[in-house]
Formats: sequence, structure tokens, C-alpha cells
Amino acid sequence: MTAELELNPSSLLTGDINVPGDKSISHRILILASLANGVSTIHDLNEGQDVKHTIDILSSLGIQITENDSKTLTVRGGSLKEPNENLYVGNSGTSIRLMSGILAGMPFSTTLDGDGSIRKRPMGRIIEPLEKMGAVIECLENDGMAPFRIDGGDLKGIEYHMEVPSAQVKGCLMLAGLFAQGQTTIVENVPTRAHTEEMFEELGLEVEINDNSVTVKPGRPDSFTYQVMGDPSQAAFWVVGAAILEGSKVSIKNVYTGRERTGFIDVLKRMGADITQDPLANDLHVSFSGKLVGTVVEEKEIPGLIDEVPILAVAAACAEGETHFKGLGELRVKESNRLETIVSEIGSMGMNAEISGDDLIVKGGKLTGGKVNSHGDHRIAMSCAVAALVSAEPTVISGWEAVSTSYPDFAADLERLRK
Ligand code: S3P
Repeated sequence: MTAELELNPSSLLTGDINVPGDKSISHRILILASLANGVSTIHDLNEGQDVKHTIDILSSLGIQITENDSKTLTVRGGSLKEPNENLYVGNSGTSIRLMSGILAGMPFSTTLDGDGSIRKRPMGRIIEPLEKMGAVIECLENDGMAPFRIDGGDLKGIEYHMEVPSAQVKGCLMLAGLFAQGQTTIVENVPTRAHTEEMFEELGLEVEINDNSVTVKPGRPDSFTYQVMGDPSQAAFWVVGAAILEGSKVSIKNVYTGRERTGFIDVLKRMGADITQDPLANDLHVSFSGKLVGTVVEEKEIPGLIDEVPILAVAAACAEGETHFKGLGELRVKESNRLETIVSEIGSMGMNAEISGDDLIVKGGKLTGGKVNSHGDHRIAMSCAVAALVSAEPTVISGWEAVSTSYPDFAADLERLRK
């Protein structure tokens, strides 16, 4: 079912807001709770469809997951069992890549599949190292793509140098490392999100974290209670909204600000935004402080703001001068070809931008609004919604249902904050 959202321009955003639980952490904590001995309790898990797919997959593998109320889940961890059906991840790249790491270590066979977008995304980046560890993986339709079957078990630890900077690949191999004989080391050229290593450490798993590598030894966590903090990638929509709408003042409560998650804040501060972090409460405070100015975002910064490029493009479209994002090749293989969809959709709202190789160059100006399409990509839909607030004319976003992937209450939160 496709849905449309029509938005009129706004004068400003104001108020306090809680964003959904961090999506990356939500997937990982569910998986780790499933591996733990005993019952774990998780508070404030992300409520989007992607995380629901991870819950469904773990349930198909015999794990008992109970929703106590809308904010608390309990997970009875233990042994995973061979499922009766194929495991379907929907639109979720994180589910398919992280679950593959676990399933590679199981002494049974599983088939993983997803929607049309997942079937186009590169899986060779996890298949190749998992095969080096000893898993047998067969792509059932196209090479290096879903659907694929994993015949797992008998893994051995390896040292793997990641070619593509990817926290999903790192997370996948670290999870596989929990079932391998010996130790598994992942070396990265460019640092990526550090959730998996932080969580392994927090839950008492054997992990050694160095500047550009991480080493994991086999093991399972003990059961735990875990509070998922707010997702900085979702906070970014309100941060940019407040930074571009005159008179705005917004506080986003209890946001996770771990390693390689807050690159967008550094970029926006360089552009002149007034953002302060309250270190004790983990709140972000943003006040409109005048027109932003263009900047250069270097390739090495990209993994630390990979999901925030669409909303940073909106900030750039409203800034004085040019913003140059370098090395965005990875955006071509996200939920949509985001390099293209940023330019086609925000472009049709008046953004002046061009793609040069893997770079995106945005020239600041005025947004007009218009008719746009999410292309099934939640972050494109939400970025267009923020762009609509500063546009001269109304905007209609079709394919709005895509936001349910990560932020089902986005439109309600927008209504609460806008004036
Ligand atoms: C994620 C890592 C990022 C990000 C994705 C979630 C994760 O991908 O784009 O939405 O949970 O590890 P890569 O680092 O694999 O590019």
C-alpha cells in the first residue's frame, strides 16, 4: 500500500523530542540477547519494520521474544534451531548482514531473502569473508546477492582486512567470530560505527579494540538488561530542521553519541549551526543561528555520517555557497541509489546539485517544494519532509510508507514540533 504525505511550509520548530531507539543497536542487542543464557530485558527498542524483521527471524529460529508493553521486551536466549521456512529480512540490510554472521556459525542450513531493494544490494562483502571462515554459501539467483543459502558450522577465526568501510560487515564477522575456533580479527582502513565492539565489551564478551582493528574470541554473553538510547540518525532530521528554520529551538533527548555516529554534528557546526551536547543527559540542543555556509565533507568523514548525507544535502541546499561531499560511492547501494535519489528528489524541490564521479556538489539557494517520491527509502522520505518545511510552496511526498522502516511516528513528531 502506498501512502502520500502533503506538507505545507512551516515557520519554525520548537520543543523537546525523544527519537526512536537506535536502529543499529536495536538489531545487535536482540541478536546478543538471543545468544545469551537466560532471560534478557530490553527497553526502548527501535519500533520500525527493519528491527521487527530481526525479531521475526529470531523467533523463526526458536527464540522466545515477548513484548511486555510498547517499550519493553524480554528475550529468552539459548540455542537457535533450524527454521522451517526461509528467513525474510524485508528492506533491512542490517538484518541480513548481521544474521548471516550468526547463521554461518550454526550447524544447519538457512536461506535468507528480502525485498526488491535487498535483492539488489551487495552481499559479496559478507559472503567472501564468511566463506574464508568456513561457511558454505550459495547465491540462489544472482552472484553476490540475496537470496542465498548458508550451510553453517565449523568456523575458524581469520584476520580480515575490510575493503569497503562497513559497520555491517564488521558486525557480521564479529558475530561469526563468537562461533569460530580461535580468534577473529577485522582490520579497517577507515573507522566505521563502533556499536558492535562497544556492546561486546559492555556485555562482557572477549574483545580487544585497537585503533584500526578489533579481535573477538568465541563466547556467549550472560543475560542482561539494556536501555537503547535515541538514534542520532533520526535526531539529525530535527537538528537540521532547527538549523535551517528561522527562530527554531529544539532539544532532542537521550541521544546515543558513540564513535562514528556524530559526524553530522561536526559538519553542521562547520556550517555555522548552533548545536550543543549536554554530556550528562546526552541531550542535543539546537537553535537557529542564521544562514548556514557551505563546507567540504571529506571522504574519510563519510562512514561516520553515512546515513545522514540526505539530510545534510538539505542543509547544504539552504546554505550560502557550495557544499562538496566527497566519495559517496557507498550511497549507491543503500535502500535506494541514494546518490541519485538525493539529486532527483530534493533536486525536484529546487535543490541545485550535481554528481561528479562519486562526489555530490550542492549549491545553496532556495527550495520550492513540489511532488517527490521516496523510492522506498525512509531517509529520502524524511529528508524531503524537512526540506518541505523551508520550501516556498507545498510538497507532496509519495511512498511515505517507507518511513515505517525506522521512524513510524515521524509525521506525528513533526506535527508536535512545527509551528
Ligand atoms: C549500519 C551501518 C551503516 C548504515 C546502516 C546501519 C549498522 O552501514 O548505513 O544503516 O547497523 O552497522 P555500513 O557501515 O555497512 O555502510
